[in-house]
Amino acid sequence: MYFRSDNQTGASDRVMETLAMANRGTTPGYGDDEWSTRAVDMLKETFGCDLEAFFVLTGTAANSLALSCLVDPWHSILCHAKAHILRDESTAPEFYTGGARLVPISGGDGKLEVRHLEHYFRITEVHAPHNSLAKALSITQAAENGLVYSAGEVASLCEAAHGRGLSVHMDGARFANAVAALGCMPADISWKAGVDVLCLGATKNGGLAAEAVIFFRKGSAEEFSHRRKRGGHLLSKGRLFGAQFLGWLQDGHWLELAGHANGQAARLFSALTSIPGIRLAWPVQANELFVILPVRLAERLLSAGAEFYGWDRGSLPADTTLAADETLIRLVTSFATSDENVDRFCAKAKDLAT
Ligand SMILES: Cc1ncc(COP(=O)(O)O)c(C=O)c1O
Repeated sequence: MYFRSDNQTGASDRVMETLAMANRGTTPGYGDDEWSTRAVDMLKETFGCDLEAFFVLTGTAANSLALSCLVDPWHSILCHAKAHILRDESTAPEFYTGGARLVPISGGDGKLEVRHLEHYFRITEVHAPHNSLAKALSITQAAENGLVYSAGEVASLCEAAHGRGLSVHMDGARFANAVAALGCMPADISWKAGVDVLCLGATKNGGLAAEAVIFFRKGSAEEFSHRRKRGGHLLSKGRLFGAQFLGWLQDGHWLELAGHANGQAARLFSALTSIPGIRLAWPVQANELFVILPVRLAERLLSAGAEFYGWDRGSLPADTTLAADETLIRLVTSFATSDENVDRFCAKAKDLAT
């Protein structure tokens, strides 16, 4: 009953097989190999456009290095109040950008909306050089609460941001889950909607450890390779990144994996909502569930061996309150979540709730 995070599982068999193939023989180092070239070509095919892509080891490095190409140290990056870059990456974005400021412009709940940007610009005066100038907007797809931004929502945010002279960064740690949920083309919620830089995460969805930083705007990636090297993320055996991405993307494998994770979240949703005393904070759109349940039930589930994290109440919808004996937890499904895992958890929850 493993629902702590989508990194509790290993890599998909296919990714491991591709890695094993790439492991043989010799190739040039530092990404100048055929596996990496083929992976970048596959990204171009997947997104249906020309692009520049770089591989790094972690989502934190991907986000922070990407942002460092969009802003100067005296600039600000606008984001959601619960954004991973703001809350869960220590001060890596500040470190890599040389000190740029992260500014939350929303409340803790919901998704980013154009009104948040408009409100920020309405209340913020900028007297250069005294105040920090906003130069980037960061959107997380799928969002902090498991919701998915539609293509229209991404496009509206990008249009508003570009109109104010901001570049748009997308933290796509769960981008695959969003594409699978929307049934859209990857381009629809990235460059076609106006995203300038996408950090596409494979790690949570079947990769071993691989994230791609994808620049869609010509010329915007010039500094990246220097910054990546300086940051210690230019992998010497670069083919091992390339092989992971190639195996992951080929034949739509990445979307099959994400579709499975989303499907298991939907199964959890329908079984859990039929149990008295359990309700969901947000609709389930991708592979995360935010579940409100009695504290005692959460404790009993943990004692019975279920694994999940308690979650921050500040991310609840504004009109949702918890009773004194209720708590909020997060359940995450992955490409490897089995029917048996879901069924056991739901049966246990039903049993312990009654
Ligand atoms: C939204 C989001 N972005 C990025 C990451 C990547 O973080 P890490 O540096 O752990 O790979 C995560 C992982 O939890 C995440 O949830």
